Amino acid sequence: MQTTLFSAKDTDQLAAAGALLRAGGLVAIPTETVYGLACSAFRPEAVARVFAAKGRPSDNPLIVHISDLSELSLLWQEIPPEALRLAEAFWPGPLTMIARKRPEVPGEVTGGLDTVAVRFPAHPAAQAVIRAAGVPLAAPSANLSGSPSPTCAEHVRSDLDGRIEMILDGGACDFGVESTVLDLTRRPFAVLRPGSVTPEMLRGVLSEVITDPAVLRPLDRGETARSPGMKYRHYAPQSPVTAVSGPGCGSAAYIRAHLLEGGAVLCFDEFLRDFARIPSVAYGSETDAASLARGLYASLRLLDREPHAHIFAQCPPLSEEYLAVTNRLCRSAGFRVIHVDEKGAEI
Ligand code: TXA
Ligand code: MG
Repeated sequence: MQTTLFSAKDTDQLAAAGALLRAGGLVAIPTETVYGLACSAFRPEAVARVFAAKGRPSDNPLIVHISDLSELSLLWQEIPPEALRLAEAFWPGPLTMIARKRPEVPGEVTGGLDTVAVRFPAHPAAQAVIRAAGVPLAAPSANLSGSPSPTCAEHVRSDLDGRIEMILDGGACDFGVESTVLDLTRRPFAVLRPGSVTPEMLRGVLSEVITDPAVLRPLDRGETARSPGMKYRHYAPQSPVTAVSGPGCGSAAYIRAHLLEGGAVLCFDEFLRDFARIPSVAYGSETDAASLARGLYASLRLLDREPHAHIFAQCPPLSEEYLAVTNRLCRSAGFRVIHVDEKGAEI
């Protein structure tokens, strides 16, 4: 199959993408978080092709994207009143909410679950393409299953060229990590995947929000994942990653002391000079959570261009503001995480 690269700025090309989606085609689209691999949410055969193109396990459900609140009634059995208050505060934007699904939503989209995750993206091209398709779009991140999510059209091309009909190029993504996923079906409401909308921001609207414990640790044996995505290794480069969590000066000291021949480093901007003679990539500033999120996946992809014996990653200490970055790094490290103090001693 030939994959065409179209511009998200060209109205004719956006309209063509919409028509293709309506007809059951697969189009990678830009969003403010990461690129999504979109298809009509109401065409089970197109949804099946999305799973095949990504090599995604069929029990891992997709997020459905809308461009108007009125589309919620096509997807959710009932609209939780809290969802409307959250929509008012955070939509369009990087928040996904889960509620009971209507019977018309194909089981292929939800991995057989009776709930469906919905997001109203803020990216103008994402909104335009949903409107042009005239139907809500199911879209997982547009990467091969298990590799870092794509934050520009080139990442999508390198993973999915020849497997999908079209890529809409809308430049680099603003946030760089996937949306916050919030489960509204059980109390207390729980964040199943942290994102740019932090638990603290959600608590400005809801009285109680917890972060699911599986966000920062592997599932125990026999434990059921509240979100199927928690079961799978994610965002992983080919070389084994160890996350070193703590103040930057401490993680840098630890890494200098423990890096072996053939190792590489993912570091904060402030420490790039410390690793001058070692293969190293800086992903953002230690003091700016948004910059780390924006740079993380592109930097992991860059490090992954060559094989390394191992990769040490400087990881921020635990806090709500940095939770999205910490979660993605812990997952890409398969939860191999070392905690250090400011001197680089293990704690
Ligand atoms: O920012 C994003 O959310 C991006 C863009 C494209 O919108 N999409 C994205 O989709 O990250 P994906 O498929 O890579 O991740 C969806 C996550 C998975 O971990 C999945 O298990 C979870 O959401 N999920 C989806 N529907 C669910 C449901 N009904 N119940 C529990 N978890 C669900
Ligand atoms: Mg994904």
